[in-house]
Amino acid sequence: MKQNRDILRHHHLTLNVGVAQEDYDFHTKVLGLKSVKKTALYDGDEPILHLYYGNGNGDPSTLITCFPMRQSGRKARRGTGQIGAVAVSVLPTSIPFWKGWLQKHGFAAKETERFGEKLLAFAHPCGIPYEIVGAATDARTPYSNGAVPTEHGIRGTHGITVSVRDLECSDEFMHYGWNGQARREEREFVRFEVGKGGSGTIVDFKVEPNVPQGSWQYGEGVPHHCAFEVDTLDVQKHTKAHLEGLGYTDVSDVKDRGYFDSVYVRTPGGALFEATVSKPTGFLIDEPFEKLGHAMQIPPVFANRKDELIAHLERVHD
Ligand SMILES: [Fe+2]
Repeated sequence: MKQNRDILRHHHLTLNVGVAQEDYDFHTKVLGLKSVKKTALYDGDEPILHLYYGNGNGDPSTLITCFPMRQSGRKARRGTGQIGAVAVSVLPTSIPFWKGWLQKHGFAAKETERFGEKLLAFAHPCGIPYEIVGAATDARTPYSNGAVPTEHGIRGTHGITVSVRDLECSDEFMHYGWNGQARREEREFVRFEVGKGGSGTIVDFKVEPNVPQGSWQYGEGVPHHCAFEVDTLDVQKHTKAHLEGLGYTDVSDVKDRGYFDSVYVRTPGGALFEATVSKPTGFLIDEPFEKLGHAMQIPPVFANRKDELIAHLERVHD
């Protein structure tokens, strides 16, 4: 069987969180990321807010995007068959700063180590396990919000940890379907890096045979999916055909997400992955660079319900 070399690195990580303002303050004030878009979920009939955070330009592999779910009352269960934890990257020398900074903001962080990297494990206010990892080589430029010094700034996404009850089918999927390289094992973890590897390309699997299945639906308290960058729409088409050829036939059609085009695949381990191509205009399609992430941008699919959405959706302030 042929492998697929199309998957390059993370594009964005998407989380189902709780209260919008709480999430906004956590990502912009505590983690020091930039708000790069305020919009709404494109799927379904029920308007759900969608907040994007990242570096200055909102570059692929720096993006965390969040659906605040408290307003809808929809809750989710963490468990296997789902992404369990998300990690962002800083320089290894920044770990002491982040331990103190998190403590100052009321987050108790446990210092630990995995695959030779020091990390701080804590929880997002909605409970999602979050990690700040010291990554020795990371060329991505951090954004500074003025409070977190630039040298300590978050470089981008580091990895995800997918919780699975057993590994074999995920192993096959990563090897043949998702450009999984550099397979390594440590305790109950198996690590793959996609594309060129390094921070921003990591998929860890944590084998937890006795943990019940977690939620797949939109609901507060679990990650929803991990998106990975592919180069062009033609490459994305090849990714879909390749996965279908392997037998993973539940690959979605291309969905226009306004700022990028996406195809989704439910992986055999249960987590939802996405292969994503940024549009040439990216986040500047509906607002200028200087105003990125300030005003609400109504998705085209909800254009005829603009007033209703503005009135209904939670508002966040800086
Ligand atoms: Fe996505």
